[in-house]
Amino acid sequence: LRHLLTLEGMPRPVLEGLLDQAQACHDSAIGRTTDRREVLAGTAVCTLFFEPSTRTRSSFTLAAQRLGADVMSFDASTSSAKKGETDTDTLRNLEAMGVRGFVIRHPDDGAVARLAATVKPETCLLNAGDGRSGHPTQGLLDMLTIRQAKGTDFSALKVMIVGDVKHSRVARTDLHALRTLGAGEIRVCGPANLLPDDDTLAGCTVGDDLDAMIEGVDVLMMLRLQHERMSEGLVPSLEAYHARWGLNAERLRRAAPDAIVMHPGPINRGVEVTDEVADGPQSWILRQVANGVAVRMAALQAVLG
Ligand code: CP
Repeated sequence: LRHLLTLEGMPRPVLEGLLDQAQACHDSAIGRTTDRREVLAGTAVCTLFFEPSTRTRSSFTLAAQRLGADVMSFDASTSSAKKGETDTDTLRNLEAMGVRGFVIRHPDDGAVARLAATVKPETCLLNAGDGRSGHPTQGLLDMLTIRQAKGTDFSALKVMIVGDVKHSRVARTDLHALRTLGAGEIRVCGPANLLPDDDTLAGCTVGDDLDAMIEGVDVLMMLRLQHERMSEGLVPSLEAYHARWGLNAERLRRAAPDAIVMHPGPINRGVEVTDEVADGPQSWILRQVANGVAVRMAALQAVLG
């Protein structure tokens, strides 16, 4: 891979190869990620974040360190971006210092692809989430988690995405990956005004009745309400949202008995999921987080190794 910008259009063998590589990085028997410090020894990697992050930034940092890279951290809020320096100039200045790999999070749709057009041939960019568009390593870690829970054949799986799909780069990315991997059925449930009105949901079963749609589902992907991307009044109240689209233990019993619950984080506890579900036996949420390190090791190796 030259860059990792999106999972849209990524050929199935490439996607599955990244998942295989991530699984190889992950020692599931003892729940930690294997060190391969020779792979990126002497290579400088910068996490360039123009939006907040806990999971993506930390796990990319750990992944790059485990591959032996020199890791720099750029935080827009304490940088010369505050004085008006553009993102392109910021990137080119860090590139001039010898950084070869940039892990970029940006509030604008398509920003990472735009920046990729400005860099030297030897510089590689990894999209750590841009606007509502894409979050490819989140999609990969979600697919790795499903594979670990349900096996590599997705053709019989009923997967349901619930909540604020409209503002979710995670949902868009997961939809690309689920289609590529041949998921049997994809259901999408949420309030009508939080579902996209373009072709994002083509081929999905779409509705707003969670109690009906959850029947027999194997994988539940709960999404965060993205208040920071919403206009006022889009959600009537958090209590009203939770009553119709929140996942509690009673609702979860309607899904398949071995259904798994996923959430990309950060969780609005008591809104998208109850504590009982988030911390319960069917929750794979922290395994998603653990898989983030392995997936990001695989992604960094694929573009820089
Ligand atoms: N899932 C995810 O992208 O989390 P962060 O915003 O904390 O990185």
